[in-house]
Amino acid sequence: MPGAASMSKPRTAFVCERCGVEFAQWHGRCESCGEWHTLVEIRISEERHSAARRACAQAEPRPAGEVSSEPQPRLPTGLEEFDRVLGGGVVPGSLALVAGDPGIGKSTLLLQAANSFAGRHGCCLYVSGEESLSQVALRSRRLQALSNELLLFAETEVGAIRDQVERVSPRLMVVDSIQAMYSPDLSSLPGTVSQVRDCAAQLLRLAKDLGMPTFLVGHVTKEGVVAGPRLLEHMADTVLSLEGDCHSGYRILRAVKNRFGSTDELGLFQMTGTGLEGVPDASAALLAERRAGIPGSSVVPAMEGTRPLLLEIQALVTRASPNVTPRRSVTGLDYGRACLVLAVLEKRVGLPVAGADVFVNIPGGIRAEEPATDLGLALAVASSLHEAPIPRDTACVGEVGLTGEIRSVPHLDRRLMELARCGFRRCLAPSRGSSSVSDSERIEVVPVEDICEAFQAVFSA
Ligand code: TYD
Ligand code: MG
Repeated sequence: MPGAASMSKPRTAFVCERCGVEFAQWHGRCESCGEWHTLVEIRISEERHSAARRACAQAEPRPAGEVSSEPQPRLPTGLEEFDRVLGGGVVPGSLALVAGDPGIGKSTLLLQAANSFAGRHGCCLYVSGEESLSQVALRSRRLQALSNELLLFAETEVGAIRDQVERVSPRLMVVDSIQAMYSPDLSSLPGTVSQVRDCAAQLLRLAKDLGMPTFLVGHVTKEGVVAGPRLLEHMADTVLSLEGDCHSGYRILRAVKNRFGSTDELGLFQMTGTGLEGVPDASAALLAERRAGIPGSSVVPAMEGTRPLLLEIQALVTRASPNVTPRRSVTGLDYGRACLVLAVLEKRVGLPVAGADVFVNIPGGIRAEEPATDLGLALAVASSLHEAPIPRDTACVGEVGLTGEIRSVPHLDRRLMELARCGFRRCLAPSRGSSSVSDSERIEVVPVEDICEAFQAVFSA
């Protein structure tokens, strides 16, 4: 075979530690990101080529109409909120990345998921590269994750992990975390872009070759990206993000990318003494601590993908100290949108907010970025400023435009259904779009054209 001789030569490449782009030759400056002295040499194992060749040899182009489009079989883990975000369960051979800040609960969630999966489908391997075996066992005990089919393994070298996988043939593997893994082929330290990239590529190959679903834990770095600019996100089939405020009990699991399902679903969990517990009725949980009849609080039916979620928006408007720039503090909403709404309130309604300190918050550590929450913010601010509470059973939804008009929002019917389900009797909604949803007997829809109309409907009653 003429190609055999050239293939056996060890090949090397150069990879940028900053952006992860690979080059055939060394350069002093990375041509991709422009950084100096970031290229390191990596050895490309032969196996990598032969595996890629093998995969290519089996596949051949086929007419689109003849390719079967049957949905992928799924293996539910049994953690309902987790399965929903995945799109119904784990897809065999898929590589998923679970990203999140340190301490948010990634290890906890995946240990629970692996344990539950093991109870249903058999052997799961949980590889810990960050904690010792006894530390993981302690956590396992705390979580009551003690299935006989759950194997714990403390290791950081990818080759050793591969050997164990071949020995025990698990149905699912968790690697906690990808930043702790290293491959002796490379001279760089664990956690560097070249190591993370190489280890992830090896684990990806293992997952695909064996059809073994693999979950990688990835810490979010200072810049808010997972180990280098979206490096792992390209490789993974699914990227889940675990978010929340470490100080509040709620954790939100979202799919940022999902090759096997929608990225619209959201899972809500609560951190308890025995791990993360799914919260099936998210709206009720989020509104449980709301104090009705207090000024500065409104309720908005937000959409998290396809799922409506009732959120409380709180605002506190106070007089600013003289000669100091007024403070604006916005938590849970987009800062730019909040400023826009405040400017519209000042200019179109004549509310004196420009010289006031304004604090805005969504309790529970939830973030809502959609413009449909604008009207809720406007009403909460006005309610605080006027010391006039919004009626307990009234909610509102709508995007606020620069001329003060209330613009239509998607999925209005689904939002209204959720409000009705949770006992709300009235909802202010954009007049465009609200004609198509019939006034049901369970909730009255009050169509509003602009922000002044909305204020009249709420505060002059
Ligand atoms: P952990 O899963 O270690 O976070 P990560 O892997 O994302 O770094 O969880 C960290 C926090 O969760 C820790 O501060 C303790 C808390 N916790 C509980 O409240 N209850 C529990 O049952 C467990 C296991 C952890
Ligand atoms: Mg951890």
